[in-house]
Amino acid sequence: MPFSLVRADITKFSADAIVNAANSSLLGGGGVDGAIHRAAGPELLEECSLLGGCETGQAKATKGYRLDCKHIIHTVGPIWHGGKQGESEQLRSCYRNSLALAESLGCASIAFPLISAGVYGYPKREAIAIAEDEARKFLADHDMEITLVIFDTDSFEISAERFEDIRQYIDDAYAKLRDDSDRRPMMAATVMGSDPAAISNDEPARPKKKKGIFGRNKKTESAGSAPCEMAEGAEEASADDFFSMRDESFSQALLRLIDERGMTDVEAYKRANIDRKLFSKIRSDIHYKPKKQTAVAFAVALKLDIRETEELLSKAGYALSNSLDFDLIVKYHITHGIYDIFEINEALFKFDQTLLGQN
Ligand code: AR6
Repeated sequence: MPFSLVRADITKFSADAIVNAANSSLLGGGGVDGAIHRAAGPELLEECSLLGGCETGQAKATKGYRLDCKHIIHTVGPIWHGGKQGESEQLRSCYRNSLALAESLGCASIAFPLISAGVYGYPKREAIAIAEDEARKFLADHDMEITLVIFDTDSFEISAERFEDIRQYIDDAYAKLRDDSDRRPMMAATVMGSDPAAISNDEPARPKKKKGIFGRNKKTESAGSAPCEMAEGAEEASADDFFSMRDESFSQALLRLIDERGMTDVEAYKRANIDRKLFSKIRSDIHYKPKKQTAVAFAVALKLDIRETEELLSKAGYALSNSLDFDLIVKYHITHGIYDIFEINEALFKFDQTLLGQN
């Protein structure tokens, strides 16, 4: 995955480079620094003592020793003094310099702890935002798997209001599900010949005639679909209906939607937090079945509305349900017009859910 958040102990993580939140002496300390030195073994301190320290915002590399990495990149975050002493620029430099160093060392993957957000007192939410932003900027023209390793959920703070709002949204959906199932026997009795299971379905019945996103653009119609036999003058199905019903795979639908939205492939997979290799697989295999979180990531990248999202997901055999936290959190963001994948991932992370993108 190009950028991901995980909750883990970074000393147990496997990556080409593991970043240490050090101090300017580079001679070890507490927090993650202490943990890395303990896990790597005493040879690490020996090598560090030859480096002549490190300035705030800079980065220096050593070998990985007993950690599961080729290199440890030591960077020195700023001490938080209230935010008016250039702390944010210094923190950004930590990420930029560490990433540049990792690249010069030929690393394909790197794991960061939340630099400065412990003993150095940087507010966690802002520290995470900077980490994400610098990762995103770097990934705009580089390929690397960047992981932000968070030690505890409390480090990960979406705003209290948003957390509450999402929790309310989830609670409301579950309450509605319960109400619907309580009402089911009565409704079933009143609807002759209908399938009670269908009545209890939490999803609104889908209208027979739907204006789908699929096939709006005839220009792209050649993508392996059967020629149109009934579009002209057909009474029962509009052209939109016809195209929406056609047998189009997820891969075909995705590529067409990217064109229709005027995006390049690169823009689309970067916005979706998907790496180039996975995108190539999807593009070259028209029957590729993505994971649900990958399919949702593309819906978000393409800024599809909820209906369109459902349609794209259905091409991969998925639906959004009202009885899964993951689905409800995705719905919450799409219906609120929030299409920033990192923002959505923050919320998913906070609720202990799989993140969007390639997993
Ligand atoms: N894995 C991942 N993250 C961790 C781990 C771990 N094993 N342990 C702690 N963290 P800090 P700083 C998180 O204090 O603020 C040292 O003494 C922790 O929850 O380690 O940059 C150095 O020598 C927090 O979110 O680093 C310096 O003197 C984040 O790592 C000073 O502390 C950073 O917390 C540097 O302070």
